[in-house]
Amino acid sequence: MEILHTAAALQAYTENCRRAGLRLALVPTMGALHEGHLQLVRAAAQACDVVIVSIFVNPTQFNNPDDFRLYPRLPEADANMLAPAGCTVLFLPSVEEMYPKPSVMKFDFGALERVMEGTHRPGHFNGVATVVGKLFHLSRPHQAYFGQKDWQQVAIVQQMVADLAFDLELVSFPTVREADGLAMSSRNRRLPAEARTVAPRLYAALQLAAEQLRQGASAAAAQQAASAYIASEPAFTLEYFEIADAQTLQPVSGWHPGQPVVVCLAAHLGGVRLIDNIVLQP
Ligand code: PAJ
Repeated sequence: MEILHTAAALQAYTENCRRAGLRLALVPTMGALHEGHLQLVRAAAQACDVVIVSIFVNPTQFNNPDDFRLYPRLPEADANMLAPAGCTVLFLPSVEEMYPKPSVMKFDFGALERVMEGTHRPGHFNGVATVVGKLFHLSRPHQAYFGQKDWQQVAIVQQMVADLAFDLELVSFPTVREADGLAMSSRNRRLPAEARTVAPRLYAALQLAAEQLRQGASAAAAQQAASAYIASEPAFTLEYFEIADAQTLQPVSGWHPGQPVVVCLAAHLGGVRLIDNIVLQP
């Protein structure tokens, strides 16, 4: 596995691979890798000859300076996990390398970002789109891998790929969970022990809402039942609990067979902000 630190080195590398007729996959991450990330890497390695994994804690997508400061950074442990998973190139740029000048261009994803993470984390998706766009240009992959754990992020990146005609296929991958249901996340490392024991209730709340919707409950009723269940554990502060059309992300009144719906939440627990979602397919 090669480790590259500069944009120029990555561009030269991927240019050579393209000339040699190889298929390239990109897996963008912020590191502190877990099984959720590694499954993306393994899937990419199955489909492509060259797998580029980027690890970059992107300052422009953090709206909370403490969250940025405390974000776990474990580049050595990460590097050791990546080669066995099938990564060929690890791209580990510095902030100066990714942002030689502060970026001023702004993205507006319309209705897609006027809900959930977009409203609760102002500027977040602008930062995500900026860095993901840069990574797409530097690596020019045939495929890019994203996790459905960040459902809205997938929708935003899909929109950017379409609007800016990026010549790549976006592959999205189901959420990988701990045995007790907690969605894997780099931020889980920061959960205090007591908080970690109650954390799986978030997934249980999503399942509760999904079950109610399947039985014909209204979105309002399902949302209320799930919110009450979360509130019964005082360690949680629920930020939002939304039931939305899985493509447009706009609120729905209930689940109708034929319309994929996503149930999404964000909650604070033990000083950590967690998100999760569940999708109801037709
Ligand atoms: P990060 O949170 O490190 O996640 C990197 C990729 O792994 C994302 O596509 C995310 O959805 C996926 N992922 C995280 N946890 C997962 C899980 N439990 N199951 C499946 N996939 C999971 O998302 C980001 O970084 C950043 O916003 C990034 C896209 C790298 C831009 O900076």
